[in-house]
Amino acid sequence: MSEVLLVSREGGIATLTLNRPDKLNALNAELVEALATAVNELSRDASLRCAILTGAGDKAFAAGADIAAMANLSPAAAHAFSAKGHALCAAIEAANVPFLGAVNGFALGGGCEIALACDFLYASDRAKFGQPEVKLGVIPGFGGTQRLSRRVGLGLARELCFTGAAIDAATALRIGLVNAVVPHAELVAKVTEVAKTIAQMGPRAITECKRVLLRGDDLPLAEANDLESRAFASLFETADQREGMAAFLEKRAAKFIGS
Ligand code: COA
Repeated sequence: MSEVLLVSREGGIATLTLNRPDKLNALNAELVEALATAVNELSRDASLRCAILTGAGDKAFAAGADIAAMANLSPAAAHAFSAKGHALCAAIEAANVPFLGAVNGFALGGGCEIALACDFLYASDRAKFGQPEVKLGVIPGFGGTQRLSRRVGLGLARELCFTGAAIDAATALRIGLVNAVVPHAELVAKVTEVAKTIAQMGPRAITECKRVLLRGDDLPLAEANDLESRAFASLFETADQREGMAAFLEKRAAKFIGS
């Protein structure tokens, strides 16, 4: 395991911690690579039920792509770095299990973009979000322009991307960027509790639900509804559908097997 990324496991729940606290977990090539490798490995793990992404230290989730490492990039190298960030965010989105972001501090630039690739976010009351790239003469490069506008709407995304302003956790909650704001010290425990709830559900149902929600967002409503219908029907081929419904009717807890 790479030192810049800590991976821990409790049952079906993995916690990935960005670990460059002295640099506010700034995303250099090593950290992007380590995170992509971990996400890809976890994607092949059939026993995984949910993943949590957070940052080490008390100040930052991630304060952006590493500016020192980016300062002298050629356009070709910048394109390659951006492509790696996009591939990472796409892998988080495409994973079979939900990724929950526990945003424990600054989520700026690439930090905000990686958070946006998570299925949903809980924020510490100390969190701050922003896309400050224009202050550096560039724009978001890991999907921020696109995922931010899909999450909070085009007008707010434009304002955040054009001004580079950082917003606090309460504002992030108000605009729908995060689902909840939690006292700082309770953040990871609270997100772990949510992950444990998800981990008890039918695993195939969660995977299908994640896939349909994501793909449907980019489709016209009728096509998205058709996608949902087909996924709904496909789950009636699974043992977990029979078990889940039988357990309800027999007034007992379901024992899902993931198939
Ligand atoms: N890339 C590289 N290093 C970074 C970084 C980044 N995105 N963000 C913070 N760091 C480093 C700082 O250079 C500093 O390193 P040093 O101690 O070796 O000098 C360390 O992390 C602590 O940061 P510092 O700026 O001293 O903390 P602060 O509390 O005064 O300010 C921020 C916090 C987040 C406001 C400030 O660090 C910042 O503006 N970071 C850049 C945010 C950004 O523009 N992100 C988008 C990048 S595309």
